[in-house]
Amino acid sequence: MMKFPCYRARRMRRTPGLRNLLAETSLSARSFVAPLFVKDMKRRGEAIRAMPGQFRYSPDGLLFEVEKLERLKVPAVLLFGIPQKKDDRARGAYSGEGVVQKAVRKIRKRFPGLVVMTDTCLCEYMSHGHCGIVKKTRNGYEVLNDESVELIARTALSQAEAGAHFVAPSDMMDGRVRAVRKALDANGFEQTGILSYAAKYSSVFYGPFRDAAGSAPRFGDRKSYQMDARNRDEALREMALDIREGADIVMVKPALAYLDIIREAKDRFRFPLAAYNVSGEYVMAKWAAREGWDERALVLEILNSIKRAGADVIITYHAKDAAKWLAGDIPI
Ligand code: PBG
Repeated sequence: MMKFPCYRARRMRRTPGLRNLLAETSLSARSFVAPLFVKDMKRRGEAIRAMPGQFRYSPDGLLFEVEKLERLKVPAVLLFGIPQKKDDRARGAYSGEGVVQKAVRKIRKRFPGLVVMTDTCLCEYMSHGHCGIVKKTRNGYEVLNDESVELIARTALSQAEAGAHFVAPSDMMDGRVRAVRKALDANGFEQTGILSYAAKYSSVFYGPFRDAAGSAPRFGDRKSYQMDARNRDEALREMALDIREGADIVMVKPALAYLDIIREAKDRFRFPLAAYNVSGEYVMAKWAAREGWDERALVLEILNSIKRAGADVIITYHAKDAAKWLAGDIPI
């Protein structure tokens, strides 16, 4: 017998129906964005060695994958491009015939209800793999901020012209959100949104992505433009700046090791917030599953944590699988 009035916590948890009824977080495919790699190539698709279960698609091959996602009610995709040729001005990034631009046009035509987002970065198109223009200096090299921002704005405009609903600058140069907003508005794309990689940490968790996109820097690292894992105030400053410059959604990246940042940003800004469950987080879950862990339970626990932390939008390579599991309607 209970000696005092008491919340019947354990009793509530015993019944799956009650557990679901009282759940505070509701994860659904509606908050997923599926990242997809599109490559300028003849073959329809090729497996990405570093990311089990993920593929690079040709612009045509991509449509089959997008169709599956749409059927599972995943509302949005985020496109990364892998061009045939790279150079030191990232020309492939802002060419009207660029691989992402082609893919966007095809997706918009075939799937009018789908939200199309494009990663707006130069690194996949640069021969050296950095997110901006590199200048040699006496002591090594420097990534030029303002010159890079110009190319990033040009890339965003060309993606909007192809039909992207959202452009997603991921380079972390200063002032790029304002420059992108200005370029879009000046050319009649007031309706195109900006998803800003606002708090992007310099992270080991991006390793598999760089293999997938062939975008690892050939020299140096990204520490001069991506954030230090030890910093919290800086993340909030970056997000405040991007909101002021005109971002429509701000992002924290990676997600799992930065759940505190997600929660703090949500509490502070009450602004649409995305979290990027990045390649390394995906691969860790895949490896654990290979070792016999319950993949469904693991992935849903991870995605629920990101949701609970405060993310409105979750960018995740698990989107297709998780959408399937969630549609299965089995209590978690
Ligand atoms: C491009 C970019 C990266 C990721 C997204 N956009 C790589 C990087 O900054 O090195 C990483 C995504 C992932 O790991 O899934 N700047």
